[in-house]
Amino acid sequence: MRWRSRWLKREREELLDRRKDRDLIKTVEEVFDSITLGHLYRLEAKGIIWEIKGVVSSGKEARVYWAKSKNGEDLAVKIYLSFTAEFRKSIKKYIEGDPRFEKVPKNDFRKLIYEWTRKEFRNLKRLKEVGVRVPKPIAFQGNILVMEFLGENGYRAPLLVEVVDDLSDDELFKIWEDVREQVSKIVCEAGLVHADLSEYNIMVWKEKPWIIDVAQAVHLEHPLSVEFLERDLRNLKYFFGERLEIEDEIEKLRGDLLKCLRKEAHSQ
Ligand SMILES: Nc1ncnc2c1ncn2[C@@H]1O[C@H](COP(=O)(O)OP(=O)(O)OP(=O)(O)O)[C@@H](O)[C@H]1O
Ligand SMILES: [Mg+2]
Repeated sequence: MRWRSRWLKREREELLDRRKDRDLIKTVEEVFDSITLGHLYRLEAKGIIWEIKGVVSSGKEARVYWAKSKNGEDLAVKIYLSFTAEFRKSIKKYIEGDPRFEKVPKNDFRKLIYEWTRKEFRNLKRLKEVGVRVPKPIAFQGNILVMEFLGENGYRAPLLVEVVDDLSDDELFKIWEDVREQVSKIVCEAGLVHADLSEYNIMVWKEKPWIIDVAQAVHLEHPLSVEFLERDLRNLKYFFGERLEIEDEIEKLRGDLLKCLRKEAHSQ
């Protein structure tokens, strides 16, 4: 009767698997296409994601979920869901001039998103390595990026724009000084320009600013890096400048960052 116990064992394992699958996708099964589900299962099989708990943010192109790892750690899982021409158009200026995208056929949206996801993972890694405060990248698979969760008990930390009115001038000034330091590291140490930096892509967690959403960040040698950097600085100037006296500081920062950019250009 060895076959029977083997069969029973297999049955039980299958049942467990099915249960596990249901847990994993309970909250998401109706949202994803089969390819995305396949990527999720692969992340589960690799022991990275144990369970998706719920939606944290639902944007036009990407959704962010709160998930759990096998050891019960919180994870943020960002899933790019849009494979439309519109999305492609919106990311065009970031990928043109980036060698990582040269091999991707122009009409292969899925591959494009995979490369975009990989780029976000690698940017996070590079930023983390030089000590920029970003969520720790954990894994990527297809259109799915897994990273450290900023928040507690499934509640994400607030964005800077959401808490600014609750901060005293002193607290905000400290955040500004810290953001300034993060930006210097991004440009002068990681050799990147964030290219979508604003109060909407800075989270405040444990009283410190955390930089998020780095898929579009480009290398300093990208043809539009100066333009993107100027835009990032303009956003910071509007936001912080409205509340704090930072005119001179922002000009000094601008000068320092442009110096780093030129240094990079000469070393090419
Ligand atoms: N690591 C994280 N931990 C907790 N929440 C996060 C994390 N990363 C992102 N979020 C939440 O998800 C939201 C969207 O993430 P992100 O800014 O990376 O994507 P996006 O492409 O800008 O999406 P959207 O189109 O919604 O703006 C953030 O505003 C934040 O609220
Ligand atoms: Mg964002």
